[in-house]
Amino acid sequence: MALEFSARVARLPSYPVAGGYAEQAPPVRLASNESPYPPLPAVRDAISRALAELNRYPDPSNSQLRRTLSDRYGVAQSRIAIGNGSCDILLAAGEALLEPGAELVYAWPSFSIYPHLGAASGARAIEVALDDDDRHDLAAMLREITVATRLALVCNPNNPTSTAIPLSEIAAFLDEVPPHVCVIVDEAYCEFNLLEDPDASIDLLDRHPNLVLLRTFSKVHGLCGLRVGFALCGSDQLPLALDQVRQPFFCNALAQAAAVEALAHQDEVIDRVARNVAERISVDERLRALGLAPAESQANFCWLQLGPERDEEAILRGLAERGVLVRGGGALGSPVPALRVTYGLPEENTRFLDALAELL
Ligand SMILES: Cc1ncc(COP(=O)(O)O)c(C=O)c1O
Repeated sequence: MALEFSARVARLPSYPVAGGYAEQAPPVRLASNESPYPPLPAVRDAISRALAELNRYPDPSNSQLRRTLSDRYGVAQSRIAIGNGSCDILLAAGEALLEPGAELVYAWPSFSIYPHLGAASGARAIEVALDDDDRHDLAAMLREITVATRLALVCNPNNPTSTAIPLSEIAAFLDEVPPHVCVIVDEAYCEFNLLEDPDASIDLLDRHPNLVLLRTFSKVHGLCGLRVGFALCGSDQLPLALDQVRQPFFCNALAQAAAVEALAHQDEVIDRVARNVAERISVDERLRALGLAPAESQANFCWLQLGPERDEEAILRGLAERGVLVRGGGALGSPVPALRVTYGLPEENTRFLDALAELL
């Protein structure tokens, strides 16, 4: 006899995870926007030290991490939320803010987890098309905000299209959004955005108690295997509500120790961004030489529309056969054939470009 599940489970879309993780000899992994650089030696040492205390539960208030983040970003500890990855904060925000009859607004295509928030809560999700340059159309998003809206999500730079909008546009948007609407600006890739100082958005928090800046240790800090993210908030309202809907020990002890140590190494962050941006410039140039037109990336990955005549599935398969894993746009919401490709190490990028050239 089959188990009976809730209607909610039937509504939930499956998150399109990348493959390749179970393989013995890992292929070139350019499918999940990970950092190609391993955690720093000092971070690995901090993790080793924390191992000895694993018989204890982790600090449920994440106090050392919140204190370090507060010092680094100048945001009061009460306005900082920690998560088991920033995805955890997104899903908990959905649980805290949404219910049947409520609405949420986000751009599409955007991060694949956003559709879960509407499906899980029964709230109405309004997906607003990106503009012709694959960027958020904030004017169109604003037109969709009603008295029923509880949450607006702005992914900047946007996953999967890699594009960013200037902070001035986000500031103007926030001036128009009614104060009952929580606005989460998902800044998972902000360190790679050369349009802006990554910390410039923090000044907006003092003017907008409804604003949440969502960040992660998964990308530039290279710690996605540990799962830790954080939110800098305009008030303490969301952090308190998140704690109500989650289990107490959502952030493990190794992740807390690693994140605290990672914050002490800003020079390495700058160095890694510089190396990544150098690869971005070089890969995009070589893609253009192949006759392709990558979007203007401000992230650690590129977005490539392949043209209507090309077969996305065949190209994905061909790349995988040559040991290179990337993401197909179809699984990420693209209506046209496209690829999302993480910038990797120089030799990985060359493997990808050589394989793509052969397939085209
Ligand atoms: C836009 C965006 N936000 C959030 C995340 C989630 O990151 P994590 O849960 O690893 O912090 C990702 C991961 O790919 C992402 O692309």
